[in-house]
Amino acid sequence: MSQDKNEWGSNLSFILAMIGSAVGLGNIWRYPYVLYSNGGGAFYIPYIVAILLMGIPFLILEYGVGYNFKSSFAKAVKKINSKWEYLGWFLPVAVFMIMIYYSAILGWDGIYIILSFFKGWGADPNVYFTTTLLQSSDSYMGLLQFIPLIAVAMLVGWVIIWFISHRDLEEGLGKVSKVLVPLLFVIMVIIVGFSLTLPGASIGLAELFNPDWSLLGNFEIWMAAFGQIVFSLSLGMSIAFTYASYTKDDADLITNTISIALANSLFENFAALGVFSILGYMSLQSGTPVAELVTQGTGLVFVVYPTVFNVLGQWAYVLGPLFFLTVYLAGLTSILSTIEPLSFSIQNKFGLTRSKTMTILIIFGAVISMMYATAYGGSILGFVDTFINQIAILFGVILECIIFAWIFKAEKFIDFLNSKSRTIKLGKWWLLIVKYILPIFISIVWIGGMFDVIKNASFDQMLFTILAAAILLITTLVFTVLPAKNPEWENTEERV
Ligand code: PFF
Repeated sequence: MSQDKNEWGSNLSFILAMIGSAVGLGNIWRYPYVLYSNGGGAFYIPYIVAILLMGIPFLILEYGVGYNFKSSFAKAVKKINSKWEYLGWFLPVAVFMIMIYYSAILGWDGIYIILSFFKGWGADPNVYFTTTLLQSSDSYMGLLQFIPLIAVAMLVGWVIIWFISHRDLEEGLGKVSKVLVPLLFVIMVIIVGFSLTLPGASIGLAELFNPDWSLLGNFEIWMAAFGQIVFSLSLGMSIAFTYASYTKDDADLITNTISIALANSLFENFAALGVFSILGYMSLQSGTPVAELVTQGTGLVFVVYPTVFNVLGQWAYVLGPLFFLTVYLAGLTSILSTIEPLSFSIQNKFGLTRSKTMTILIIFGAVISMMYATAYGGSILGFVDTFINQIAILFGVILECIIFAWIFKAEKFIDFLNSKSRTIKLGKWWLLIVKYILPIFISIVWIGGMFDVIKNASFDQMLFTILAAAILLITTLVFTVLPAKNPEWENTEERV
């Protein structure tokens, strides 16, 4: 059976692969900015509340159900109610769409690893990134302008992904996570250690942590904290579910959840120390206030950092490659997780082997991803990212919460989760959180995000949002209506 190939060799592989999925670009380029722009030190209050109230309880729920069904996400949702198979494909397909554009960012970063050895971005990193490398164009005609360098870098990424993912789970993802995730932490410690010694580091850190308590009454910073935790922990994306379904029978899921959430927070707060020490150094060198240097996303990684490396002298030749390698490894261990839910669901329904499914999906993903290797690719990436993260995934998360906590009934597995737990025990408080508080809070974040998109979207963004939504809904439908090839698909037995 193909499923036999889908089991972790040990609990350690499971934890490290989950940390690998959580620790990604969101921790490096998103969190430092979110922390800074939402009250600095004061942000820790909504942040910790979001972890305790949402991150940990929701991960426990996803793990609990995944472990209970020991099957793919689509199959589990279908077992809960066979009329809802469509919903079971929705999240895996949305997450696979993330994979396709993540591969472009990974490709850009791969190019920067090489450039960093000789500061190949030149004197003006902004011009290099937008004009020379991406050849950014705001017109659809840019789709016809193919950029071979980016295409090659992306294909290298796809080959690496294929090399790891088409093997049996433990042989590929399990082993790779055991090496790459600890390595990622070690490199990050080196970078941050070095950054803290830079002159001006304290200026950046003072700016970062300077708490603005008045913001605590502001609804937006609470929304930012909840949004960050959903993205950063890869919450409710059917990834945690799928990874838990690959565990052996003796896993202590509650304790695992706490370790994963802690490691993820540790990493992103560490990253914030590094980013702001470096911005402080830059501010000291250039006389520009930190507030004007700070940014997030591609701007931080591919423009601000190269600008800093330009003034850093010889050290830049060590720090630069290390930094871009960290981003690559963080991105790689995350992107590897984005294919698992769809792949496992396909294996379950159509009876294909893991190796074959991965090969087909990766070839398909690589071909589609080539639209990002065009001059209009950067713009599409931004639109698709906003749609998937602010609208599609959050919607899926709310649905997942309702299906798992209400319809499948979270009460069912409290005893069994508690029986394995060596740390905290679940009680009524957990039910209260997963059944009431979570769906309400996430719905508020979702509505806020929708308004944001509708209010600020340009015509092009609207058009691509509608197009992305149509592709997501139609692909989901195709997987739902295609006839199953595996007789097991109709089996409706549960385990608890
Ligand atoms: N959790 C990852 C990060 O913080 O960068 C991002 C991510 C990974 C989002 C996987 C979505 C996903 F499916």
